[in-house]
Amino acid sequence: MSQFIPGAADLSDEYLEISEDDRLQEEKHFATVLNAFSKYEQVTFSEINSQLKHYESINPQYLNFLKDYKDRFRAVKHGAIFNYNFFAQILGPHLCEEFKFDLDDGVDILHMNPRKMNVASHQHDERTGPEDIEKVHSTLKQFVRDWSEEGSYEREKCYGPIIAELENIYAQDKRSEISVLTPGSGLGRLSWEIARRGFKSQGNEFSYYMLLSANYILNFVKKTNHFKIFPFIHQRSNNFQKSDPVRCVTIPDVNPSSLPKHSDFSMVAGDFLELYNDQPDQWDCIVTCFFLDTARNVFEYIECIHRALKKGGIWINLGPLLYHYAESYNSFSIELSYDDVKKVIIEMGFELVKEGVQNCTYTTNKKSMMALLYKSVMFTAKKITDKPKTDAWSDVAGRSYNYNRTKHT
Ligand SMILES: C[S@@+](CC[C@H](N)C(=O)[O-])C[C@H]1O[C@@H](n2cnc3c(N)ncnc32)[C@H](O)[C@@H]1O
Repeated sequence: MSQFIPGAADLSDEYLEISEDDRLQEEKHFATVLNAFSKYEQVTFSEINSQLKHYESINPQYLNFLKDYKDRFRAVKHGAIFNYNFFAQILGPHLCEEFKFDLDDGVDILHMNPRKMNVASHQHDERTGPEDIEKVHSTLKQFVRDWSEEGSYEREKCYGPIIAELENIYAQDKRSEISVLTPGSGLGRLSWEIARRGFKSQGNEFSYYMLLSANYILNFVKKTNHFKIFPFIHQRSNNFQKSDPVRCVTIPDVNPSSLPKHSDFSMVAGDFLELYNDQPDQWDCIVTCFFLDTARNVFEYIECIHRALKKGGIWINLGPLLYHYAESYNSFSIELSYDDVKKVIIEMGFELVKEGVQNCTYTTNKKSMMALLYKSVMFTAKKITDKPKTDAWSDVAGRSYNYNRTKHT
């Protein structure tokens, strides 16, 4: 059974003590996320309308070469409508009223008014910025990576080697006793695949975009290919064919509720460091996939992983070192190279059992002219000492360092 805690607002105070200020911040942020989903159609239509104006402002003779240009814009709006209907399902419990789609007979999609979902975003009327809408777009692409047939190649390259390593290390008849944590679990497919193979699997995630979406797909969707989404309509460049950006992707490629009957699978909402720093010697295995570089201070992640693992526990990592906060202006961020990371891992009390490079992509559009290839590092490390073994450690251990950690994205 998958158990899901959909956000700090629903966590009891005993579970995670948070101040009133933090709670308000949390609610405000949640409202921003709900609003971003709810304004998707409005924002997308407005972008399409302004592109249409650009086309209509050029020399009409040029448009003779592109007689179907209006149909192309219609197709993009059509895709946006499907995406929006899908978001309405995801937001379900947070909607104030039923959201129905009645396309009036005879209404041309090109001139249709965007709809507006009425979301329960408390008393906050949060503004939706381009970065919020960008996260809604990324959520669509994350669905392709995790829950579509089209994403299977990417998953084979990223999740495949991790799963093979887990299967190699742990014999099948022992797996039900092995607890595996996947922090930064996104839409949950890797954690789900681990549970499917008989492990006790827990995902952890702090982004409300991911949490709301993962909650929906994991707990409410019971059929394969139940939804049509159009994740690439926002990609206007690097298309080979005019049909490429408006192609449909069906999700999910597997039935998310088809886990074996006694599976032990949970997803926990919250910041990895806040949740797992307090769980010493709990986990048999921690899997980080495209996660290590989400740290502002990667030392803290390594320390937390070390602490949370049992002695003899295994850490499997795969991913690049594209430090997420490195490019944000004036943002706290420490960026270590892999040789530094490796030194820290060993000094902190791990033995590096295996390492290599794995070529893989992340939420790639396979029909695009452009693809970003990561030469990801993959390693397996074993916790061999209870306490970090370096002498330098005694100087800093136990102190807490304060900097402005953005809790949610
Ligand atoms: C690059 S994505 C990778 C997602 C997934 N592992 C995959 O491979 O598709 C990193 C994820 O980690 C989450 N994340 C980042 N920092 C986190 C933190 N401190 N605690 C929990 N989740 C975090 C992000 O919200 C994001 O979903």
